Amino acid sequence: MSGPRILVVEADDARAEHITALLDFLDFSPKRVGGIDEIDLARARPQDWLAIVLGAVEDLDEVCRFGAWLARLPLHPPLLALPALHGVVDQLGVHPEQVWPLDWPLRHPQLEALLRRASLQVRQPGEAAPGIGPEGASEPLRRLRRLIARVAPFDTTVLILGESGTGKEVAARAVHAASARAKGPFVALNCGAVPAELLESELFGHEKGAFTGALAARKGRFEMAEGGTLLLDEIGDMPLPMQVKLLRVLQERCFERVGGTQTVKCNVRVIAATHRDLEAQIARGSFREDLYYRLNVFPIEMPALRERIEDLPALVQAIVTRLAADGRGDVRLAPDAMAALAAYPWPGNVRELHNLVERLAVLHPGESIGAALLPPRYRAAWEAAGRPGGAAMACAATSPQPAPEPAAGALSEAEERAAERAALFGTPAVAAADELPEQGLDLKEHLAAIEAALIRQALARAGGVVAQAAELLRLRRTTLAEKLRKHGIAREGDEV
Ligand SMILES: Nc1ncnc2c1ncn2[C@@H]1O[C@H](COP(=O)(O)OP(=O)(O)O)[C@@H](O)[C@H]1O
Ligand SMILES: [Mg+2]
Repeated sequence: MSGPRILVVEADDARAEHITALLDFLDFSPKRVGGIDEIDLARARPQDWLAIVLGAVEDLDEVCRFGAWLARLPLHPPLLALPALHGVVDQLGVHPEQVWPLDWPLRHPQLEALLRRASLQVRQPGEAAPGIGPEGASEPLRRLRRLIARVAPFDTTVLILGESGTGKEVAARAVHAASARAKGPFVALNCGAVPAELLESELFGHEKGAFTGALAARKGRFEMAEGGTLLLDEIGDMPLPMQVKLLRVLQERCFERVGGTQTVKCNVRVIAATHRDLEAQIARGSFREDLYYRLNVFPIEMPALRERIEDLPALVQAIVTRLAADGRGDVRLAPDAMAALAAYPWPGNVRELHNLVERLAVLHPGESIGAALLPPRYRAAWEAAGRPGGAAMACAATSPQPAPEPAAGALSEAEERAAERAALFGTPAVAAADELPEQGLDLKEHLAAIEAALIRQALARAGGVVAQAAELLRLRRTTLAEKLRKHGIAREGDEV
């Protein structure tokens, strides 16, 4: 019984026995508790378990608290939810994509498949450590890592293609780190950022007096990268005359410094990267076809973030961990914020995500960020889609952490109470506006919550423009402004 640990939360003894026996048989280490109160949440860490089997529970409130505790980790261990739990899973406040239904009676192949899937989410031994390789467990990312691992040991020239911010430099560094040159230098040059007339000297160096201002001899990037790897970033921006010179180096592995006569031999692995469509540039005559074929020996295409959106929690986690390690603040994204970000198309890819998380960490240090705190652009698509996965936020109100200071754009008091009620009684926070729940309701609060929800929708639809939102609600602008203040809803421009 030495395999990965699985937490089993099940109030029913016979059922718990059955589950732990099967887990034992599959070579996992089950730890069974009858209720959440048996776990010391102050000392435990979600990552202590590979997965959590959740069955019948007696205290829904407790489970909500457990859910909120888990959800602090964007990629928390999956909850294998038994049917007893199916009606309430979306109230648990956990990340919805980490809730995986489990049949009862247990089916051996299903349980085994789910546990295998859970294992894949955890970093495998030998895989690049965080910060070195590209983050993510999605199929496109696994394919990317396989390509990197396959090409790294050879000195093959690699061409990395992909939208801006997809991590082309991260991939290039990973190739270098996994190659025999790992102990040698990794040198990068952004070919688009250097003025054309300086590019040659930047790449190949110059001799003293080679041109006005060349007061001393200087090494170029090729010499600096000797024995290592040279990344020629934004190769699509390299002027045509330089392309000819680069082609020669790639063919003959030697060059001359500017103003020099001596031929320098070089031992450098070249990786090129660009966000441009090189074939279209060839057609237009701005990129040399012969150079393209030289570079394109082993092409690697970087997936856009929207094509691997399931990696979002892992990426956020990696970014948050890195920021915290650098002492630049700590934040958490609540499940509804994560759901909103998953619906956003990410034109700036991981770089844009990085910038957003960093901004949130600065503005809201130590807080749990709900969707309402995201800049409007990042929640518009999610709101337009009817806030899928957003019900999970209900549990946030019952989380054991001290409630964050009410910030602009946070839930209003009435909304918060409605959410709390929803968590307790399993009724949706605002929907079913005209249905009286069995236990009755506070009419004033209920109406206020409905009002706030409609105002948020109107603002989202109006792109944050108050005058336009007022029109949608048949209100005067000043009246709406007053209501915004009352509900503590921030307008565009007030927020991050
Ligand atoms: N897969 C990834 N995992 C972790 N961080 C990433 C990943 N892809 C990109 N980043 C981060 O995003 C930013 C942009 O990456 P970069 O490699 O410069 O993109 P590109 O060169 O494609 O424009 C960097 O801060 C990088 O650390
Ligand atoms: Mg780049």
